[in-house]
Amino acid sequence: SALRHELDRLGKTADTENRDGVKKDFENFEKLFKRFLLKTGPSVVWSEIKSPPEGYIKSYRDISSCELSCSEKDLLSKLVVVKLNGGLGTSMGCVGPKSLISVRSGLTFLDLTVQQIESLNKRYQADVPLVLMNSFNTHDDTNMILRKYHSCQVKIHTFNQNRYPRINKETLLPIPQSCDDPLEAWYPPGHGDVYECIVKSGLLEAFVKQGKEFMFVSNIDNLGATVDLHILNMMVNPPEGQKPCDFVMEVTDKTRADVKGGTLIDYNGKLRLLEIAQVPKENVDEFKSVSKFKIFNTNNLWMHMPTVAKLVNSGEMNMEVIVNNKRLQNGTNVIQLETACGAGVKNFANAVGINVPRSRFLPVKKTSDLLLVMSNLYELQHGSMMMSKKRQFPTTPLIKLGDEHFSKIHKFMGRFQNIPDMLELDHLTVSGDVTFGNNVTLKGTVIIIANHGERIDIPSGAFLENKIVSGNLRI
Ligand code: UTP
Repeated sequence: SALRHELDRLGKTADTENRDGVKKDFENFEKLFKRFLLKTGPSVVWSEIKSPPEGYIKSYRDISSCELSCSEKDLLSKLVVVKLNGGLGTSMGCVGPKSLISVRSGLTFLDLTVQQIESLNKRYQADVPLVLMNSFNTHDDTNMILRKYHSCQVKIHTFNQNRYPRINKETLLPIPQSCDDPLEAWYPPGHGDVYECIVKSGLLEAFVKQGKEFMFVSNIDNLGATVDLHILNMMVNPPEGQKPCDFVMEVTDKTRADVKGGTLIDYNGKLRLLEIAQVPKENVDEFKSVSKFKIFNTNNLWMHMPTVAKLVNSGEMNMEVIVNNKRLQNGTNVIQLETACGAGVKNFANAVGINVPRSRFLPVKKTSDLLLVMSNLYELQHGSMMMSKKRQFPTTPLIKLGDEHFSKIHKFMGRFQNIPDMLELDHLTVSGDVTFGNNVTLKGTVIIIANHGERIDIPSGAFLENKIVSGNLRI
């Protein structure tokens, strides 16, 4: 009730024209907060977790080998593409929306997304709309940029996710004192917001009225999340004798590099997303193992829009509350309560997973990911990144770049005159003050380590194959 009192007071500080919207946001926030308070102990009992039953995780090969049951144009007439665009590029040292970082040939994540959908629309005379879920952090910058696409053959819509107050960890009371308080006092509560906010915006209902049925939701920083006509076909025209699915989660095989990703489990007879945050401490190693939990969530999700509307409107869209601890600049410890979109899976009656090839999961989280997608390992085709045919093996090299000189984009960019040839690279480790000249070739395993106080400049035209280069030692 102390929280309610504070929220009421805070709500009254909103401008008159925003007051109703703020009130609604706070009501939703209160519901989330209540669920957090009521939560006792872990949200899963470990012994109840089972691998998903046979048939619940379909093989992509089976789905992609089915012929389309109607024309591409008809399939696409049912589709809406939604990109999660609430996040900032702070972990790579950028200010502003992550989607506006330039990733390849001067094109941003957003440019590539628009290109992909435009080429689909042109090729199949379709009219697939693009919808961006913004947060208060990304709304202004994104909307300013959207003008540049006005002549593209893609209708772009945006809606905003909720803006919730951060909560003081000790007092459990809101940090902001007024609705105009600085951005640091507020947070966007995770991509699980997409369900409620797309319904609240009125967009979902409008699309359903236009005859659209399915939405494909994915992270805007996943360059592999392109529209897949076979998955769409499976949802629009379910095979004979099979129930139509209302939710698809694309999962992919886990490697030792992706130990932290959420996995699909069978819990009390329903598919559920299990995230590392929900795993009891003593079971974390088991969760990370590649043998027991073989797949993880790519966050490429397909859903039946009328079902989403029904679940949201009847208050049945429940997702586990994720507690994210943060520290403000003034040292105050705060918590923010979030939800993840994939956790919505448990509310759908006919959900399945599809085990897709790794190429559908190409996220750019770190500059080492950026190095891969900027290199000649990939080619750009209609806004999609395709692995170069010249690469002999289908896997990408493992890249580790030192924190101090490489983790922030502006520093990273200054370290390469151009991006080395990596077609035959398996493993690259770079640490310390290292720069690369023009047209360097890296093959096999290359390790370059400049110790503190040293600097290594790899000269233009250098060819490094299975080499360790360090300050005073060259092998
Ligand atoms: P993140 O980059 O924050 O997620 O956002 P993550 O921690 O790597 O975990 P995964 O990838 O979800 O497993 C992923 C996408 O969700 C958007 C971001 O813009 C990005 O596209 N996002 C995140 C929102 O739209 N709103 C949020 O509140 C958080």
